Amino acid sequence: MAVSIITRIQGYSVHWVMLALALVYLPITLISHPFLLITSPSSFRSAWFESYFRILGPLLATSDLQAGHVEQVLSRAKGTVLELGPGGGDQIYHYKADQVDKIYAAEPNTFLHPALLRNAEKHGLKGKVIPLEAGAEPGSLLPALKKARLLSSTTSGLPEEGVFDSIVAIKCLCSAPQDQLAATVAVVQALLKPGGEFLFFEHVANDSDKVTMSYAWIMNWIWPVMMGNCHLNGKVDKVVLGTGGWEVRNVQTIGEFQGWEVLRYVKGICRKA
Ligand SMILES: C[S@@+](CC[C@H](N)C(=O)[O-])C[C@H]1O[C@@H](n2cnc3c(N)ncnc32)[C@H](O)[C@@H]1O
Repeated sequence: MAVSIITRIQGYSVHWVMLALALVYLPITLISHPFLLITSPSSFRSAWFESYFRILGPLLATSDLQAGHVEQVLSRAKGTVLELGPGGGDQIYHYKADQVDKIYAAEPNTFLHPALLRNAEKHGLKGKVIPLEAGAEPGSLLPALKKARLLSSTTSGLPEEGVFDSIVAIKCLCSAPQDQLAATVAVVQALLKPGGEFLFFEHVANDSDKVTMSYAWIMNWIWPVMMGNCHLNGKVDKVVLGTGGWEVRNVQTIGEFQGWEVLRYVKGICRKA
């Protein structure tokens, strides 16, 4: 691929800036939560992620590369919505408040819930956003939906008529267990009402440029550890395209992708048959 070494270095260095930011916030988190690393290492990682994502989240959510595409998918959400991994709600401004009744926000990092509720209030969604402590993977999501009484706690199957009008995932499935992506997408589809939409904007693996693929393979050893379990080799596009049962399955790599970047962003609008 004809791309100059300078362009590559500039592009790749963004990840190092993000890692440096995370590193800066490590001692800050240690000081602000002195015993958490010992009492609950996983909670410590959540607190650490929250500390720097408070800065990164709003920057990324308003960046030129992302805002327009996220707007296209998120503004379609309506009725009863399930948002997977909403973080601190930095993308919430894309919702059309008069179009949604309730947003069940499955965010496993509870340190982000206060910001999520603050952003909901700021963008006209006060009382409509209900945080759930859950990841996207079925073993975490389904018990939380039962606890919220959206699913029956006495039956094991999912209701044939579905539960949600829209299910949203913005840059979070990279942090969910990658070996469960197919099961996660299958449950997303099952939870949608007929005609309901799975709306996503995610980054997936670069599978076309050998230099970047090698770089991403190496980076992927440290990136998830420092970046809240985010993986650089996501494949939600392939999983969705390989799943039947959609009446509309519109999954596209965004037009700005030039072929050499580490993160290939894809957006999807998939309507359940
Ligand atoms: C890069 S942030 C994106 C947050 C938000 N969607 C945004 O675009 O601003 C990734 C989010 O995924 C969440 N996450 C972590 N593990 C997850 C899982 N298993 N399932 C769903 N989301 C998860 C993180 O807590 C974090 O809020």
